[in-house]
Amino acid sequence: MERFKWQAKYELGVPEIDDQHRQLLALANLVFEAMESGKAAAVIDRAIAALVLYTQTHFIDEEDLYGALNSSLADEHHRLHEELRQEILELQQAAQSDRSAEMGDRLSEWVEIRLLPHMMYEDRDAHAAAAGAE
Ligand SMILES: [Fe+2]
Repeated sequence: MERFKWQAKYELGVPEIDDQHRQLLALANLVFEAMESGKAAAVIDRAIAALVLYTQTHFIDEEDLYGALNSSLADEHHRLHEELRQEILELQQAAQSDRSAEMGDRLSEWVEIRLLPHMMYEDRDAHAAAAGAE
C-alpha cells in the first residue's frame, strides 16, 4: 500500500512543479516500501539515492522558477531548501548503517513533517510572492 497519496491540498497550480511533487511522493513511497519490506541493502540504497537526487534537482528547478518570477521570497526559499537538503543528506548518511523499518519510518516522518508542509505552505508563499510582484 502506498504510504503517501497525492492530495488536492498539495496542488500549487504550476503543472511543472506539481508533476515534480507527485514524482517526489512516488519516490518516497518506493523508499518506504523497500525499507518496510526489508529489501536488500543495494535496493534500499538506490531508492534513497533516487529520492535524494530528485529532491536536489527539483529544488534547483523551483529556485530557477521563483528567481525568474522575481519572487520576493526567492532568497528565503533558497535558504529553506538548504535546510531540507542538509536534512535529507543526513538521513541518507544514517541509512547507510541502518536500513531497518524504523529508519524507514524516520525517513517517511521527514516527508510528513518537513517536505509536505514545505510543499503546502512555503512553496505556495514563494509562488504567491511572485504572482503578487507581477
Ligand atoms: Fe520549495
